[in-house]
Amino acid sequence: MSEGLTRSDRIVLAYSGGLDTSVIIKWLEELYGCSIIAVLADLGQGEDMKPLEEKAKAAGASKVIVKDLREEFLKGFCFPALAAHAVYEGKYLLATALGRPLIARELVKVAEKEGANAIAHGATGKGNDQVRFDCSIMALSPEMKIIAPLRSEEWGFKSREEEIEYARRHNIPVPVTKERPYSLDKNLWGISIECGILEDPWKEPPDDTYFMVRRIEDTPDKPDYVVIGFEKGVPVNINGETLSPVGILERLNDLGGIHGIGRSDLVENRLVGIKSREIYEAPGATVLWLAHRELEALVLDRESLHFKEAMSLKYTEMIYYGLWFSKLREALDAFVQSLQVRVSGEVRMKLYKGQAIPVGRRSPYSLYDLSLATYSAEDAFDHKSGEHFCRLWGLPLKVGARVRYRRQE
Ligand code: ARG
Repeated sequence: MSEGLTRSDRIVLAYSGGLDTSVIIKWLEELYGCSIIAVLADLGQGEDMKPLEEKAKAAGASKVIVKDLREEFLKGFCFPALAAHAVYEGKYLLATALGRPLIARELVKVAEKEGANAIAHGATGKGNDQVRFDCSIMALSPEMKIIAPLRSEEWGFKSREEEIEYARRHNIPVPVTKERPYSLDKNLWGISIECGILEDPWKEPPDDTYFMVRRIEDTPDKPDYVVIGFEKGVPVNINGETLSPVGILERLNDLGGIHGIGRSDLVENRLVGIKSREIYEAPGATVLWLAHRELEALVLDRESLHFKEAMSLKYTEMIYYGLWFSKLREALDAFVQSLQVRVSGEVRMKLYKGQAIPVGRRSPYSLYDLSLATYSAEDAFDHKSGEHFCRLWGLPLKVGARVRYRRQE
């Protein structure tokens, strides 16, 4: 890391409270002698922030800033992704990938306020998160120095044990109980679980990889029904009760989790070229995604709906690839948002044995016209026009077939 940092420099660090970033504080201080401001972002990981704050101080942070970003996370990142139906490789609702640009934006804000000239994070050199942190910082603060100790040559630790040893020597609190052998990242949109036995793609994920979601074997034998109300593509109430974004996710994470909804097992393509196996849980986000899709099916015209489906793949890639703060992502978002003006109404979901099944939908903007759809006596559809339509629609096929027939192909 030839950053040329000196004593007078100030570094803002994305602090998670885990072993890596705690060791990073001490390590950076020892290496450069500069002061470290630790930023602990609360995206709903459900951890008590106080002990983590203390830990950062014990590790030598000159200042610790704890920031509740839960509402900002949902409103500014998750709900736009929900409206775009952003699901990577058909299974991953991007909880981790959506959190990174927000954390990066917060780090840049703190750096500007505190007069810091470098930002550090604890991502490794073979993952997607380094790309998301780096690219977001580059987009928001082009001259900012970026430091990622775990991918640097100077980072001498070869194992977790060595880091624990280093932490002990420097009086940094270390995990007392034996931790689960997984790498975890949790927020209100979901949890990502990898490493340990999961690295063998043939092995079924063991029971201790379940966090927000119950095993199907343990789910109730009776379904629950839940009505989700949307306004302009944003979920605003549950069973008629208006809730804050955080309230909605808390409620649906609970309910969905009880019924075993929103767990997926994915061998995915990382941006850096390798395949990795990860388990995801996103009970609330999954219920919302399936409900939102259902409402769009009712209110969007066919061409808009199909075009949106195609571009949703691109939107998803932009999030996964760390390009949240890009012109294209913003332009795609403008397109998605322009279609959300009519995505208001309600969807009734049945939650049962790992599935969230849409069983009812209604909206003041519904394009469903019973008099046109019905097969009963009230049918108002002009059947004659169907015949004319077929004649024209099939005309190119007929012309082509005549030529083939003549040429005896
Ligand atoms: N593979 C996911 C992504 O790239 C999650 C990465 C973090 N996972 C974790 N278990 N810490 O978005």
